[in-house]
Amino acid sequence: MREIPITEVVNLITAKMANGGVFLCVANGETKNVMTIGWGGVNTFFGAPCFLAPVRQSRYSYGIIRKNGAFTVGVPLHDMRKQLAFAGSESGRDVDKFVGHGITAASAQAVNVPIVKECELQLECEPQGYVEQKADMMIPEIRDRVYADGDMHTFFLGKIVRCYYTE
Ligand SMILES: Cc1cc2nc3c(=O)[nH]c(=O)nc-3n(C[C@H](O)[C@H](O)[C@H](O)COP(=O)(O)O)c2cc1C
Repeated sequence: MREIPITEVVNLITAKMANGGVFLCVANGETKNVMTIGWGGVNTFFGAPCFLAPVRQSRYSYGIIRKNGAFTVGVPLHDMRKQLAFAGSESGRDVDKFVGHGITAASAQAVNVPIVKECELQLECEPQGYVEQKADMMIPEIRDRVYADGDMHTFFLGKIVRCYYTE
């Protein structure tokens, strides 16, 4: 485990998010889940480095992260396209994504949410709050193209309290 300043890996994380995505882990008590995200990312809020995780309200993860706003972000530095596609298409409502698909839950250091063990780069985030996106606040082009079905994102904001390479 090696801590790394977030400023040194922002571009790497941004590139991974744009190319296959990263893993977002959420948990509330015994209930845990993982999904793939490609939007959002590292930013600064309230004087600290944060991660913004946009989760649509239809996701199983949404109900969990609304109850416990902490989350982790797993950034694979080897090829996990298959696992990212799986976590990004199947729902935790129907299947335990941590079982039998090469996505292993392991303990985080600072938050009560698992990390994806296979990922070489990890972010652990403490809840700062969330913002519900409203359709009528979006320009018509975005509203019609991205939210035609009304399945809005909520932006979950987490303060990055740990950033480290697992090996
Ligand atoms: C590359 C990729 C990026 C994605 N990005 C997001 C995202 O930023 N926000 C979101 O709500 N869903 C995103 N998804 C879709 C969710 O990962 C997908 O709906 C998933 O099955 C939700 O899982 P859950 O129902 O277990 O929460 C993405 C999927 C893929 C494959």
